[in-house]
Parts: sequence; C-alpha cells; structure tokens
Amino acid sequence: MAQMSMNKVIHGAFRRDLDRFVGALTSFTAGDSARAHQLGRAWANFDLQLTDHHEGEHEIAWPALESVGVTRETIAQMDAEHETMAAALAQARTAMSSLESTAGQGEAEAALSALMRLRDVTVEHLDHEEREIEPIYIANADGPEMKEMGKKFARTGPAKAGVFFTWILDGATAEEKQALTSSVPGPVLKILTTLFGRSYRKDVAPVWSS
Ligand SMILES: [Fe+2]
Repeated sequence: MAQMSMNKVIHGAFRRDLDRFVGALTSFTAGDSARAHQLGRAWANFDLQLTDHHEGEHEIAWPALESVGVTRETIAQMDAEHETMAAALAQARTAMSSLESTAGQGEAEAALSALMRLRDVTVEHLDHEEREIEPIYIANADGPEMKEMGKKFARTGPAKAGVFFTWILDGATAEEKQALTSSVPGPVLKILTTLFGRSYRKDVAPVWSS
C-alpha cells in the first residue's frame, strides 16, 4: 500500500519553493538585476505549478474524493482556502514582476512580504488538506476511483509532465522520491524528465543552486 500520496509529494515541492523564495528575497542585494531575472524565471514556474495544482484539484481530485466519501463541506472549505491562496498568489505575482523589472530595494522588501504572506496561507492550507484528505488518498490508493483520477491527471501531455516531475524531484526527500516512483513507472519518469525536463534544469534549478 502507498505510504504517501502524489498530492503530498507535490505539496513538498511547494513548501521547498516557498522557503527558497523567502530565503532568496531575504538575502537579495538591491540592484542585482541578474538575480531578479533568475528569481523571475523560478517564479514563473512556481506560479504555473500552483495554479495548475489547484485547478486540477477542483476539476479532477474533488469529484474523485467525493465519490469515496469526502463531504461537500470539506470540499467547500478547501475551495475557500484556494481562493485565499489565489489572492495571495496574485499579490505575489505583481510584487515579483516589479522586482524583476527594477531590482530595487523597496521592490525586494515588498516581494519578501508578499512571499511570506503567500507561504503562510499556502502552508496552512496544505497542512489542513493533508490532515483531512491524505488518509483518504492512502486508504483508497488501489481503488478504481483513484486509478481513474490518476489517469485523468496523466492526460497533461509529456512536455508539461516532464517539467512538472523534474521540478518535484528537485530537492525531494528519499520518501517523496519513493512515493513518486511507486505511482509513475521508473522508465516513464526517466524519459519524461530527461527529454522534457530540460527547460527546468536549464532555467530554474540553477536559481536555487547558485
Ligand atoms: Fe489544495
């Protein structure tokens, strides 16, 4: 039986990125426009992944979870938290865009405060979602509803999936890597990340290793 759902593995990547942004913005040097552009590239990926994740939950995961007994009330609460997060994400998007175009001290401070707010509301939601839903994902991992849900999520296409998996694996713990390879066959993961993860390896991974 699965020990950790794909949902929780993905949450790990969001938590890592939020910490990375807060760390990078805390030590940002005013006027360093090269760094501002690097952070802008990492932000574009984060923004896309968080938006995709929540839209995917709304369209694909929630109906699957309702079919295994998660209540409408719980789903409504999760959606309300997504709204709060989307508002914080929009503010962070504006702040990161200003930082990228000016590399200014004030913009760096504004971006840091926006990212700290985004981290607070996002981590609170991810923790809550895991408390409510992780046991249900685990208990139903081998059932037809979750298998069907997995197939729907897999329809994203190789280009997007390659970047997505390369991003998730960047800094993943051994437990997260194991959970990932138990839901996606190793050779498939290898092909997707090797062929289609190049843009992440080239544009984003170096932002966090420099
Ligand atoms: Fe969520």
